[in-house]
Amino acid sequence: MDSFALIIFGITGNLAQIKLIPVLYDMEEKGLLPDGVIIVGIARREMTGRQLQNYVSEVLRLENIHHKHPIKEDVFKKLCERFKYLSGEIQDEKLYARLTSEISHKNRIYYLATYPELYHYIFENLQKHKLNFQNSGWVRLMIEKPIGHDLKSARELNNLLLKYFSEDQIYRLDHYLGKETIQNILTFRFSNDIFEPLINKDYIDHIQITASEDFGIGRRGGYYDQVGALRDVGQNHQLQMLSFATMDAPSEFSNEAVTAQRIKILRSLQPLLQKTIFGQYEGYRKEENVDPNSNIDTFYALKTFINSNRFQDVPVYIRAGKKLKQYVTEISIVFKNPVNRLLKHLDWGEEPNVLIYRIQPNEGIVLKILTKKPGHEVKLQPEYMQYCYRIDPHSHYIPDPYERLLIDTIRGDQTFFNDAEEVEAQWAFIDPLAKRRGKPHLYKPDSWGPKEADELIEDDGRKWLEPSMDFCRI
Ligand code: BG6
Repeated sequence: MDSFALIIFGITGNLAQIKLIPVLYDMEEKGLLPDGVIIVGIARREMTGRQLQNYVSEVLRLENIHHKHPIKEDVFKKLCERFKYLSGEIQDEKLYARLTSEISHKNRIYYLATYPELYHYIFENLQKHKLNFQNSGWVRLMIEKPIGHDLKSARELNNLLLKYFSEDQIYRLDHYLGKETIQNILTFRFSNDIFEPLINKDYIDHIQITASEDFGIGRRGGYYDQVGALRDVGQNHQLQMLSFATMDAPSEFSNEAVTAQRIKILRSLQPLLQKTIFGQYEGYRKEENVDPNSNIDTFYALKTFINSNRFQDVPVYIRAGKKLKQYVTEISIVFKNPVNRLLKHLDWGEEPNVLIYRIQPNEGIVLKILTKKPGHEVKLQPEYMQYCYRIDPHSHYIPDPYERLLIDTIRGDQTFFNDAEEVEAQWAFIDPLAKRRGKPHLYKPDSWGPKEADELIEDDGRKWLEPSMDFCRI
């Protein structure tokens, strides 16, 4: 792997603390950072080298659901040796003059872990100092959601990015695309030929996608109250899940071919204004940095269709929210029951087969089937045929999505990143729904959201599947 400089704008921000610094530690521990790699952290506050080390040490010891393991002193030391720190105002041109003198590396990754309002100062100043030029090396830019807050602003941001970088330099990161369990959907579907013939309207009754969290917004009120659930996780993570589960086989495993198929799904989604429900958990308005009269959604549920021959009339139900009953993210492909099923008169006899991609927790791919209950009579019971990461002896280790995506950026592989068109296709679907958001329905913490979300699916004679914890248990 080439050596490079990683320049993080916003090293003291939330993203750097929760994701980037812990992931860099993990990469150091696994020997994934080549010799000569340096990390330049940029932020406003003054810090000496010693203070920076203390800061990194504190961050690594923070309570972090995604990064839970002891910190080894030798790894920490090695990581700290790579760190340089530049304090200054992002608007200030002098900062970039100092940056130029700090990095002699031809290969550079700029990571924007700061406020979108500051992006244009960064780009202009990089340009002034020719820091975005690719001479004999490569220059790449990593940028996270939000890519705009609607279609118009996403287009504006994409245009701004393209003024300073070419599309093949821009790595728009949606960390769900870096999740091992989501990437595995493609392998599962396109390397096991027995399932793919079933993934269509002839066999599928409907699709459900659930991303529920059993915690609230924490200290992110300032951000969350401007955005809401639909735009926070619906526009990006959940639409990605849907496109992985339903896209046609790409002609080859390349960035262009895979991205093109994802975009095809996104463009064929039908926004159904009357079939989108918004909710807010009781007590949300009292959260830190939240408007006491806020009408922002902390929950949403929607129904849509994929306008294609393959999925004609197959409804897709998507829901996500905070402070719900369970922490679980999954895609369920619910199959149709043939009318002539042999034992349909028995208890459980009409239970449908369900293919479950369990993204988290208890990661795995599971097929819900009916089996005969052992004994002298014919009785049925639902069971799971399962591939489980946590109990597969060959794959205990699931890399953090940020680690996966950083490695891909270093390698120059954009397959699991969004391009401008993809982000705009997501917004084109979400925009009309987000814009008609009215007063949300209140729901009790620890529930499955407002009753209107149940009615959304029950009106069609179906119900939300209660995510099971009976499979892939450690
Ligand atoms: C982020 C959202 O993009 O994704 C958060 O801003 C959400 O609100 C998070 O909690 C979910 O990611 P994960 O990896 O924890 O499922």
